[in-house]
Amino acid sequence: MYNITLIPGDGIGPSITEAAVRVIEATGVEIKWDEQYAGMAGIEKHKDPIPEQTIASISQNKIALKGPLTTQLGKGFRSVNVALRKEFDLFVNLRPAKSFVGVPSRYSNVDLVMFRENIEEFYSGIEHYIDAQKSAAETIGIITRFGSERIVRAAFEYARKFGRKKITIVHKANIMKYTGGLFLEVGKQVAAEFPEIQFNDVIIDNMAMQLVLNPNQYDVIVTTNLFGDILSDLCSGLVGGLGVAPGANIGKDAAIFEAVHGSAPDIAGKDIANPSALILGAAMMLNHLGETAAANKIYKAISDTLKNPNEVTKDLNPNSKVGTKQFAEFIVQHIKTN
Ligand code: NAI
Ligand code: MG
Repeated sequence: MYNITLIPGDGIGPSITEAAVRVIEATGVEIKWDEQYAGMAGIEKHKDPIPEQTIASISQNKIALKGPLTTQLGKGFRSVNVALRKEFDLFVNLRPAKSFVGVPSRYSNVDLVMFRENIEEFYSGIEHYIDAQKSAAETIGIITRFGSERIVRAAFEYARKFGRKKITIVHKANIMKYTGGLFLEVGKQVAAEFPEIQFNDVIIDNMAMQLVLNPNQYDVIVTTNLFGDILSDLCSGLVGGLGVAPGANIGKDAAIFEAVHGSAPDIAGKDIANPSALILGAAMMLNHLGETAAANKIYKAISDTLKNPNEVTKDLNPNSKVGTKQFAEFIVQHIKTN
């Protein structure tokens, strides 16, 4: 029995987390969920986007499954996602992008893993207007040797563990000679300790083009926070979009699993959201817990469901009437009959 914090989240969050819980249940792994609130739901329940109860629950359980949280643009409270990553020092943002048969996309057989540094640089929130007239604004992005080393090392250790052959470090060291330069230099130092794994570096703008032209030339990608944020959405686009892109935020002591996509306010409350990304996030969580068999069951069942256009949500088949709940039930059936 595992104790895990469950944050339903905002917008489509509650319905996709319900689907994920249902699917995990079907694998037979026993979990005692501790439901907590954050984001807009946190404000509603506890007048706080990051309630103390939520932090206390994650501190205790060390593992959380989290629906997306709404963050207002250019105003309001700071991103709760960013705050949680900082609070628990979740320095790895692990975002795999893998093709599924049946999910429409430009490429097949894409199998990329993104390691995005998750704490530093432009997500520190060190920002201000330079004067009272707001004539200009400044943001400060700090990149440390410590932070760079641990994210690059995490990528190499992952590659070694899972038999991945190549790591590409992505940067802009030609322009940001100090911050980008430091990241690249540390990357090369760490790479030297893993001679069996191929290593190269690519400048971010070129990388964006290369990924669109031929994603299969890459394997594991490691990069800084903002580039990783953007490139991981690009990578999810290569395999059919945000509907099938999970993510994990992992630190030394705690980990939070989620979907890459946001709270999708445009489709909230309609029972049409695709829960695959969060369910794949749940499979990553089970893997992290060592429940490999259950994780594989979920992966296989999702793959089987996605293959059948009559079993998927509208985002994948515009003619489909299958809703979020029904989709989860198809996955559960596949788990039971596999
Ligand atoms: P979004 O990812 O919520 O939506 C982008 C588009 O994809 C929308 O058209 C939406 O309907 C569609 N979409 C997303 N997930 C889907 C799903 N599971 N099934 C079917 N369609 C789906 O991005 P957007 O609109 O930029 O952000 C909305 C809110 O989410 C913002 O407040 C943002 O800050 C927040 N957000 C939260 C994240 C998190 O909690 N990790 C990550 C990204 C955004
Ligand atoms: Mg993002």
